[in-house]
Amino acid sequence: MDPLLRAVRHVEDILAGEMRTRSLLNAQKLGVFACLAEGGKSLEEIAGCLAIDNRAALSKLMDTLAGLGLVRRKQDQYENSLIARRTLVPGCAGYFGHFVDFLGDQYAAKSREGILENLRSGLPLRPELTPAEWQAYMAAMECIARLSADRIARCLDLSSARNLLDLGAGPGQYAIAFCQAWPKLIVTLYDLPQSLETAEQNIAGAGVGRQTRLVAGSATDTSFGGGFDVVFISHTIHLFDPEAAGRMLLAAASALKEGGTLVVRDFIMNRSKTEPLLGSLISLNMWLEGAAYSLDQIRSWMGSVGLSSIRRIRLSDPSEAQVVGALVAGRKLSRKRRG
Ligand SMILES: C[S@@+](CC[C@H](N)C(=O)[O-])C[C@H]1O[C@@H](n2cnc3c(N)ncnc32)[C@H](O)[C@@H]1O
Repeated sequence: MDPLLRAVRHVEDILAGEMRTRSLLNAQKLGVFACLAEGGKSLEEIAGCLAIDNRAALSKLMDTLAGLGLVRRKQDQYENSLIARRTLVPGCAGYFGHFVDFLGDQYAAKSREGILENLRSGLPLRPELTPAEWQAYMAAMECIARLSADRIARCLDLSSARNLLDLGAGPGQYAIAFCQAWPKLIVTLYDLPQSLETAEQNIAGAGVGRQTRLVAGSATDTSFGGGFDVVFISHTIHLFDPEAAGRMLLAAASALKEGGTLVVRDFIMNRSKTEPLLGSLISLNMWLEGAAYSLDQIRSWMGSVGLSSIRRIRLSDPSEAQVVGALVAGRKLSRKRRG
C-alpha cells in the first residue's frame, strides 16, 4: 500500500475507536443484548422490545454491531453472537455489562475537554462519585475480578501463609478467592468505607466471614499494623501520584513480617510506557491523578522499602495476562540479612 494511504489508514483506525465504543455503549444502554437473550428477532421485533421509533437508525446500529462481532444477522433476523452471549447478556456467568456501563459513565464524566484542561493546567479532575455511582464502580470492578480472582489466588503459593492484607480490596472478590483457595488464611480487607459495604455483602454471600476482617481507612495516610505474611495490592496504586503510591508501598512493606511478600497487581508497563497499550490508554484517559507505573518504577519502590528477590509472577497461562493482569512480588528480608 502507498505509505501515505497506510498512514491515513492508521489514523482512521485510531479515530474509529471512539465510534466502536459509542456503538457498544448505546447498544448496551438501549438493552439490545438483553432483548436478544432468548434468541433471534427481526428489526421490527427489536424496535418493539426497545421502544424505538427510528427504524433506519436502529437498522444502522444492528448492522454495525454485526460488523463488530457482537450480533449475527441471519436473513431478516438478528441474534447475539457467542461473544455477546458470554459477556453482555444479563445473568450470564461472565457478565461484563456493569463494566461497560461504568466506562460509559466515566467517558461522560471525564470529557475530552476536561482531560485537555487537566493536561494544560494540571488541576486534578475527579468528580466525587455519588453513592449510586460508587455502587456502579464496585459492580464494574466485580466484573473484572470474577474473571481473574481464582486464577490469581491459585498462582500464588500461600500454603504457609496465615495472614494476608488486601489493600484497596474493592468488592472483595480477591479476598474471597484467597479464602476459598487457602482455608487456613485470615484475610484483612482494607479500603474506604463505601467500598467495604459492597465487600461485606459479597463476603457474607460467599460464606467466608470467619476468615475475613474488614478495616476502613485511607491507604495513603496510615500504617496497617504488622505481622502479615502477604500484602496484596490489586489495581490500586495506579490511582495515586508517585509520591502517594510510594508512601503506600512503604506502609505495606512495614506491615509485612520478616520473610513476608508484597504482591502488586496492575497494568505493569514496559520501560517506555507504551505496552500494554490498554494501560497507557486508561492511564491517560481515566486515572488523571495516578498512572500506570512501569516495572522499573515498581522495582525501585520495592527496593527502596527494603524488599528483595523482586520478580514477576508467571500465570499458569501467560496468554491470559492481558485480562488477568501482571503481578510483581518482592520479599522482605530478615533484619539481619538486610544488614
Ligand atoms: C480499581 S479498584 C480495585 C479493587 C480491587 N483491588 C480489584 O482489583 O478489583 C481500587 C480500589 O482502591 C480503593 N481506594 C481508592 N482510594 C483509596 C484510599 N485512599 N484508601 C484505600 N483504598 C482506596 C477503592 O475504594 C477501590 O476499591
